[in-house]
Amino acid sequence: MKELLEKIRREAEQKIADSDSTESLDDVKVSILGKKGELTMLLKGMKDLSPEERPKFGQLVNQAREQIELKMNAKREAMRKEMLTAKMARETIDVTLPGKKMIRGHKHPNQIALEDLERVFIGMGYEVVDGPEVEYDRMNFKLLNIPEDHPAKDEQDTFYISRHDPAKGETTEDDIVLRTQTSSVQARIMLAAGKLKETSKGFPERELPIKIISPGRVFRSDEVDATHSPSFHQVEGLVIGKGVTMADLKGTLDQFATNFFGPKTKTKLRPHHFPFTEPSAEVDVTCFKCGGKGCGVCKGSGWIEILGCGMVHPHVLEMCGIDPNEYSGFAFGIGLERVALLKYEIADMRLMYENDIRFLEQF
Ligand code: DAH
Repeated sequence: MKELLEKIRREAEQKIADSDSTESLDDVKVSILGKKGELTMLLKGMKDLSPEERPKFGQLVNQAREQIELKMNAKREAMRKEMLTAKMARETIDVTLPGKKMIRGHKHPNQIALEDLERVFIGMGYEVVDGPEVEYDRMNFKLLNIPEDHPAKDEQDTFYISRHDPAKGETTEDDIVLRTQTSSVQARIMLAAGKLKETSKGFPERELPIKIISPGRVFRSDEVDATHSPSFHQVEGLVIGKGVTMADLKGTLDQFATNFFGPKTKTKLRPHHFPFTEPSAEVDVTCFKCGGKGCGVCKGSGWIEILGCGMVHPHVLEMCGIDPNEYSGFAFGIGLERVALLKYEIADMRLMYENDIRFLEQF
């Protein structure tokens, strides 16, 4: 049996030396030391030896086992080292190669304009609130004095998510649109602060007075051209309190215009009509380019229109649960792209959406 043991040991060592992969090494391990391996079988055969010989032979087998394991481990370690060296050689990095240049991003001019604008209003004590882009018809139209058949709705009537059959009459709670104006946030904020809090559709409840701006994306069925896009941005403003007047509105807009466009900027209110304000006005600012003399930018008039505004209609206050005998307020809606295009003298609105780095990196 000793000769057999010696033979197994020698053959095992040869097999280990011949293995060229960890897998073949594993195979050797199984065939020699495994449950049915040669050495294990030899141990099982010990019962044929005399009781005196058994412990001695057992010791020899164990020694052989240890030797084989040592050889196996050494071989495994050598293989690992060899693989690592090969891998390192494969993955050598030439540190003298020039690095890849990281392209640094730019803030979009719309975003720069928005941050400027927010700074001005936050400075005057306004809070910035967010409203949903997918909106109830009720918030976008009805509560703003734009009922089902109002012509103002035609102009903006747009992307419906779901809609009842108009032939069957009034709008329902299920009528949902992509909002056409950020004025929808006015309705939400007033509901959330008025007596009809429970109808504010989960908008966070708040207290009067109100002093907010709400920037965001709006959607209309407009064709794309140099000044139109089916999706653009507005910034809504709303102030509701006791004794708020048109003079407050004018003063606020003057502050905005001089801070945003420059200290020499003047504002002018032109009478206009919006369903949810009374009286309503459109606001022009003196042309930042020519200072009011008339030039190409202002098409010779010296003035540029930037927003719509007015005193919140008493009926709108009432519909939102705020008593118009106690409270009054003003609202305004600024076209964000409009003021950004003007401020940075960009001739075509389409440039704002094309994400051309050559355009964006100029700001
Ligand atoms: N929502 C109007 C529009 O999209 C703009 C506007 C006008 C907003 C007057 C107002 C406002 O808050 O008082 O044309």
